[in-house]
Amino acid sequence: MRENFSSKLGFILTAAGSAVGLGNICRFPYGVNENGGAAFLLVYLFCVIIIGFPFMWLEIGLGRMTGKGMSAAFEKTGANWFFKLNPLLALIISFIILSYYSVIAGWCLGYLGLSLVDKHEDFGNFVSNANYTVPSALAFILLVVWIVRSGVKAGIERASKIMMPLLFVILIGMAIYSLSLPNAYKGVEFLFHVDFSKITPNLLVSAFGQALFSLSLGIGGLTIYGSYLSKKDNIVSISFWVILMDTLVALLAGLIIFPAVFSFGISPKSELAFTFNVLPEIFSSMPYGYVLSVLFFLLLALAALTSGISFFEILVGNITDKSQISRKKVSYLLGIFVALLAIPSALSTGANAWFSSVSLFGKSGFLDILDHTFGTVLFIVSAAMTSIYVGWFMPTKEVAEEISVGCSMFAKPLFLGVSLYKVFIFSVKFIIPILIAFVFAQKFL
Ligand code: PFF
Repeated sequence: MRENFSSKLGFILTAAGSAVGLGNICRFPYGVNENGGAAFLLVYLFCVIIIGFPFMWLEIGLGRMTGKGMSAAFEKTGANWFFKLNPLLALIISFIILSYYSVIAGWCLGYLGLSLVDKHEDFGNFVSNANYTVPSALAFILLVVWIVRSGVKAGIERASKIMMPLLFVILIGMAIYSLSLPNAYKGVEFLFHVDFSKITPNLLVSAFGQALFSLSLGIGGLTIYGSYLSKKDNIVSISFWVILMDTLVALLAGLIIFPAVFSFGISPKSELAFTFNVLPEIFSSMPYGYVLSVLFFLLLALAALTSGISFFEILVGNITDKSQISRKKVSYLLGIFVALLAIPSALSTGANAWFSSVSLFGKSGFLDILDHTFGTVLFIVSAAMTSIYVGWFMPTKEVAEEISVGCSMFAKPLFLGVSLYKVFIFSVKFIIPILIAFVFAQKFL
């Protein structure tokens, strides 16, 4: 018998745990900063609404309909050899992203440890020291394996139910504090005052990629979770809560970071240096800086952990779907491979000259190359293939019918005779693939 989530709330917190991650707290504020503030936020919200909702219904619906992760679900619904490559691609992407995501998550654990002993380490020194980066990445992987091997209910759901509320408490507390700083309003203005002239095709590409990544859509993370969801539950309302939480966390992260940045007049450098260098510097000059620093890195570590679990469950869930090997064995074995691949990334930020300087596709350093190739380009390719497959190569209606189960309003006309059912079919067939094609053309042609 397939394990199920014990409650709707458990599912929502776990799926939101997957969505809320380093993407929200590091990548989103940086995207806002790089792309001229609120214009980025506006386009991001547009992508979340237009793409996020139907794609999330699709992923969860496909999982619940087949009771399987993406690999077995594609087989069960009759995918040809070409589309069967997509779940394989998604597994490779999850495996590779997890390997370097663990390195960055390891930095969070490392900085958390340093904050706890009230020590500040320069970012450059920290990341180029293998004695910091390797053990901290391995510690993160160990935590992920330890949680996922215990199963969906006892491991993943239980961990999310503890970690997500804690994450929200820290976020809200820190945002209130940050908003009370002198000149905080300048940061708020930057985040919410839209300058329409800043909306460019490039901005659309970044915002679109960020929306997909942030909502964990494209590589079957929510398909595997959906396969453990009960038929009673309402996929539409669940998706609403997950998307709301993910967006709120991104906004709250912005409300912590920008008021603090403007209050101290510091300008952010790069995405990661921003999080690990600039913020600790700001915190250290604030009253209660020590506590703030501990809370902030705890927040990052929690967010990273619930997303790391999700990458790992894509691998473990899909493999156990198709083999007789136990969850525990698969978890341990895969954990070893992820750890092995994490080492070159952990060495690629200064500790080893070759891994730090190797360059490919215009990116230099092993971690950056993996992030560009797998975390950006192939991530979008996989999302495109999923929507084209469901939209054009299998009866899209079957997934739509599945979404209707547990949601009686889905098929009912809501406005001018249009139901969410029709919106879903139209989005999956046309809007999502066309937007993805546009993004692809902008970015890579
Ligand atoms: N949504 C996560 C973040 O914002 O960091 C990353 C992610 C997790 C993407 C799981 C995809 C996934 F399947």
